[in-house]
Amino acid sequence: MAKVIVVYESKYGNTKLVAATIIEGMNEVGGIEAVLNELKEVDPNKIADYDAILIGSPNHFGEPTRGPKKFIDKLGKLHLKRKMFAVFDTYIRGDFEKAVKKMEKRMNEKAPELKRIAHGLSIKVQGMKGPIVDEELPKCREFGKKIATQLKT
Ligand SMILES: Cc1cc2nc3c(=O)[nH]c(=O)nc-3n(C[C@H](O)[C@H](O)[C@H](O)COP(=O)(O)O)c2cc1C
Repeated sequence: MAKVIVVYESKYGNTKLVAATIIEGMNEVGGIEAVLNELKEVDPNKIADYDAILIGSPNHFGEPTRGPKKFIDKLGKLHLKRKMFAVFDTYIRGDFEKAVKKMEKRMNEKAPELKRIAHGLSIKVQGMKGPIVDEELPKCREFGKKIATQLKT
């Protein structure tokens, strides 16, 4: 059974909700063991136990927050083989995919041995503290389903 770890940073809980909803989508497909962890609780040395790593960050000042950036740098130093990754972000206004693109670029530069399993997911929130825009939550579930389906094939 493929094992997935979903890690996130979240100041107000919106990115955490995205992460949890992605896992719900994965569980709908089944056949995947998915765990949810706040980034600061994750021991990077345990990442080798998983087949895929999903990393989520709020957009702060057009960037992912510090935790995800540092985590990506650490992944690069672990020289992980045959692992997959995907990223997701939350944003307001016009910053669609900004943090996602930066995390993907950083993964390519710092941890190129990890292969992207899906185009990054960017989820809009209504204001600084949320909530997530109504139409956006189903996208999180679909993202989880897509990744689980791919990991099973
Ligand atoms: C310090 C700070 C800076 C932010 N800068 C941006 C920004 O440049 N662009 C943007 O779209 N959202 C920005 N936001 C809004 C966050 O994206 C929003 O608070 C976040 O998605 C909520 O996720 P969370 O509940 O997981 O913390 C900023 C929020 C904070 C707190």
